[in-house]
Amino acid sequence: MNLNEIQKKLRMCLSPSRYSHSLGVANEARRIAEICGQDSEKAYLAGLLHDCARERPAAELASFVPGFVDPVAFSIPGVLHAFACPEVMKREFGIYDYSILRAGFWHATACKNATEFDKIVFVADMSEKGRTFHGCSDIRKAIERSLDEAYRTALGNKISYLLLKKRFIYPASLEAWNTINEHNNHS
Ligand SMILES: [Fe+2]
Ligand SMILES: [Fe+2]
Repeated sequence: MNLNEIQKKLRMCLSPSRYSHSLGVANEARRIAEICGQDSEKAYLAGLLHDCARERPAAELASFVPGFVDPVAFSIPGVLHAFACPEVMKREFGIYDYSILRAGFWHATACKNATEFDKIVFVADMSEKGRTFHGCSDIRKAIERSLDEAYRTALGNKISYLLLKKRFIYPASLEAWNTINEHNNHS
């Protein structure tokens, strides 16, 4: 499947606003990858497809999630669509590149052993030009400093939002946060 075909198919799977978000993440992931010296076309593809499972019914998502995933994820659509996404990428878009699959898997939660490529997609999801939430400009500024700084800012922003809304925080996000800030415990 070439890029044109992938885009066409994705457009049919998503609402216009989520398709436009996906294009935004693709462009932003490519831009960040260029800054970091990572494969920018691969980053574009990972960004494009990161939300390919986002609008599927929960029962369908559940059938795509690998068996090792913590059952708590099944009640959180914002997390479950990410854990289901590698299977949809493989089955429906013919993507088998491991770095793309795992960046898709961790794009909603982050994880403690994130690769540079995982970080690019996680950050791009929150910094693409269509994002307008309070704090996204901090993430964009942090990208200019370093990918790690941007990842930390983006993850901190996500966790703060969940705390503020009194929502569940997926353990992998807390592990990621604690790993990043391991030596930052002398406030
Ligand atoms: Fe997502
Ligand atoms: Fe997204």
